[in-house]
Amino acid sequence: MNNIQACLFDLDGVIVDTAVYHYKAWKRLAKELGFDFTEEQNELLKGVSRVRSLEIILEIGGVTKTEAEKEELATRKNAWYVDMINQMRPDEILPGAHEFVQACRDVGIKTALGSASKNSMTILEKINMVDLFDAIIDGNKVTQAKPDPEVFLKGADALGVAPSACVVFEDAIAGVEAALNGGMKVVGIGSPSVLKGADLVVSGLSEMTIERLRNL
Ligand code: G6P
Ligand code: MG
Repeated sequence: MNNIQACLFDLDGVIVDTAVYHYKAWKRLAKELGFDFTEEQNELLKGVSRVRSLEIILEIGGVTKTEAEKEELATRKNAWYVDMINQMRPDEILPGAHEFVQACRDVGIKTALGSASKNSMTILEKINMVDLFDAIIDGNKVTQAKPDPEVFLKGADALGVAPSACVVFEDAIAGVEAALNGGMKVVGIGSPSVLKGADLVVSGLSEMTIERLRNL
């Protein structure tokens, strides 16, 4: 049995599936710019910051923009995205997510959110999960993108727990790497062939139990 004292959760793809909303908004932007953006290409954007996502999309379309134009495009996309997440409801929480975060708290394990999204608070409010996290570190509080461990190290620090006593839950390879770079254990959410290096890979938090956590 290990001595895990904190669990740090990514948001998009772990607690909620917002990838579909990101996809709709980016696809609309690509269409306005005159090219298509597929669901497969959307996979490249998981865990990637808004600015970097836009750059990837512009590369796909073979389009060059100035910094000022890029800022306007990212703002436009975000406005559409915010319109969609403002409609989110608690029934969009992924299966087992609420239950597992609560189960951690029930046994005295601290919980934090560690997400690149600057819209994290809006989403947590819409799904009624703000109070389930002892610390919330989002895209507004970090300067380095995953796989840099900053977001998770700040979370561990805010909780007062050593990185070696933390477990990170992540669906993106960049996030798995960020956790490993921070000296934390990591549970991948998705496919073992993609999330290489994770201590355990499950298909969703519904597969997680405190016992499995203790045996990492
Ligand atoms: C998460 C998502 C990414 C998204 C990023 C920034 O990491 O997985 O797809 O681009 O957050 O989100 P934001 O809400 O700040 O645009
Ligand atoms: Mg994610």
